[in-house]
Formats: sequence, structure tokens, C-alpha cells
Amino acid sequence: MKLLPRKALVLGANGLLGQNLVRVFAHDYEVLAVAAQPEPRAPQPEVYYQSCDIAERADIKKLVKNFIPNCILNAAAFTDVDGSEVKREACWRVNATAVGYLAEAARSIDARVIHVSTDYVFDGTSAPYNEESRPQPLGYYGKAKLAGENVLSTSGANYAIARTMVLYGSGKNLRLNFVTWLLGQLRAGKEVRIVNDQYGNPTLASELAVAMRKLAESKQNGIFHLSGAETISRYDFAVQIARVFELNEKLIHPVTTAELGQAAKRPMNSAFDISKAQRELGVTMSNVVEGLKKFREELSQE
Ligand SMILES: NC(=O)c1ccc[n+]([C@@H]2O[C@H](COP(=O)([O-])OP(=O)(O)OC[C@H]3O[C@@H](n4cnc5c(N)ncnc54)[C@H](OP(=O)(O)O)[C@@H]3O)[C@@H](O)[C@H]2O)c1
Repeated sequence: MKLLPRKALVLGANGLLGQNLVRVFAHDYEVLAVAAQPEPRAPQPEVYYQSCDIAERADIKKLVKNFIPNCILNAAAFTDVDGSEVKREACWRVNATAVGYLAEAARSIDARVIHVSTDYVFDGTSAPYNEESRPQPLGYYGKAKLAGENVLSTSGANYAIARTMVLYGSGKNLRLNFVTWLLGQLRAGKEVRIVNDQYGNPTLASELAVAMRKLAESKQNGIFHLSGAETISRYDFAVQIARVFELNEKLIHPVTTAELGQAAKRPMNSAFDISKAQRELGVTMSNVVEGLKKFREELSQE
């Protein structure tokens, strides 16, 4: 008897994480890649692409009913943290309302949903955070992402939530992430000011995608903290990036968050305890230097 292929629906497939998810699942799943733009930013052979606004209830319902995936990976989001303070409606419709529509559609065909959330659901005053820690978002982006988590966890759908942070990685036609931005600045010989009082766990997108596949294939519902294994200040992370890529670290200058004046308040220390994912899913996440070296390798293979 011929086994039917498993099907994965990747939402947000044009983004940093979405492109990595498509790569990881396309090995042995039939993948439908979905994002908002009419065309794929990273077309891949044998991966179908479809444009869909996931915040349109009828459209996401139709998409899910037509494809009938085993699992749905939701990496689609309104990810402009500062912009979320002013474009509140746009942020809420994708980060909260759409997740409810997705949960409803998934439940109707019994598909498993792996949704991505953020460390910005925490206020950063009592790190390290585990899955039992009480969320207390500081900004509108974090509030909307927390609402998305809540609508999914109370929907009755088969689900897991992967909370992550400080994503970096490679892909095609992507907007810059912290690492690719810094590499550009240092290669151009530009001086940069980087905050030395914000702490987090930098996360390589390809590693997160592999961990999300484990989550998709497990039967466990609930929240999982999935980030890089090591906590570091943004300034020290920048210095490590310069070292791994053999660039001039003297161009990097420390600055405080107060001096920088970002629009949205950010958690100062959102370090994650990732032991639940390590224990229950058997995932291994890199520390800072290991992750950067893997990333350097990925770039050299592109
Ligand atoms: N980046 C980080 O440092 C970070 C940190 C913590 C958590 N996260 C979470 O990780 C996830 C992935 O983040 P990312 O950085 O990979 O995001 P990203 O690069 O900004 O990509 C977001 C994707 O969402 C799609 N999208 C936006 N609105 C949509 C809509 N209405 N309908 C369908 N698709 C829509 C975009 O499509 P188009 O490109 O076609 O417009 C894009 O493919 C998000 O849930 C984010 O909240 C990210």
C-alpha cells in the first residue's frame, strides 16, 4: 500500500521563519506555502505558493478545507514592534483575530496548529521565564500576540505555541534582521550604537524550524519556549557577531535603552528557560557562538 504524503500548510512563508519552515518541511511533506504578497519571495521547486490574507475568515477557512493539511505552521504575523503602537488595528487583526479564524478552520478538519509567539508577552522584570511564568506585555505588539495565544489555547484545537525571540537567519528577499543588518554596517565600516542593557536568547531561524517540526510531530499541546540556549546582552551579541565573521568589533559602541528612544517599550531581560522543550521534545538549541557559526555556514552554502 502506498503511503499518502503528510501535508504541511506554512503561513507567513515569505518571512524569515516561514522560509526556513518551508525548507525543513519540504523534505518529506507536501507543503503549501502561503503569505500575503501575490508572489513567493523564495520560490522552491515542488512547493506550491498561494497568496491569502489570513485575517479574512472565509479565505483562511477555504484554504484549509481545500488543502486538508495534517499540520499548520503559523509564522504569519504583523512583526513591526514600534509600528504596532500606531497601527493597532493592523497589528491586532493578524496577531490576534486571524489566529482565532485559523484555530476554527484547523479544528473543523482536526489539523494540528503550531503557532509562533514572542518573548514580548513578558515585561522583562523576572527572567528567566518558563512556560508557567505570568505574561505581562509592555507594548501593543506583545498584547496582541498574547491575545493570539489565548484565542488558540481556548479554541479546542489541537495546538502548540512556540514562543521565541531575537530571530536571525538567512533567506531570499528578506528584510534585515539584527545579524544581517549588523553585518552590513560592519562590512561598510560604519560605527554602530547597540544597547547594552537588553538581554535575550538569540535564535537561529533554521534551528527553530527544526524544533517546530518536532513540535508538529509530537502529541503535546501547550506552550513551549524555543529560543537559543544562551542569554546575552544585545551589545555582547554584536561583539560575538563581529568576532565570528572576523569584522571590526571596535566599530560597535554600547548605548543604553534610555539613550536610544525606541517607540515601543521592550522587556529589558526576557531570558528563556528552554528546559521543557529540551526534556519533552528532545530539541537541542545552540549557544550564541555555535548558532553564529552555523549561520556563517548557511550563508556560505547559499
Ligand atoms: N523576528 C523576530 O525577532 C521574532 C521574535 C519573536 C517572535 N517572532 C515571531 O516569529 C514569527 C515569524 O517572524 P518573522 O520575523 O519570520 O516574520 P516576518 O519575516 O516579518 O514575516 C511575516 C510573514 O507574515 C506574512 N503576513 C503578514 N500579514 C499577513 C496576512 N494578513 N496574511 C498572510 N500572511 C501575512 C508576511 O507575508 P508577506 O511577506 O507576503 O507580506 C510574511 O511572510 C512571528 O509570529 C513573530 O511574531 C519573531
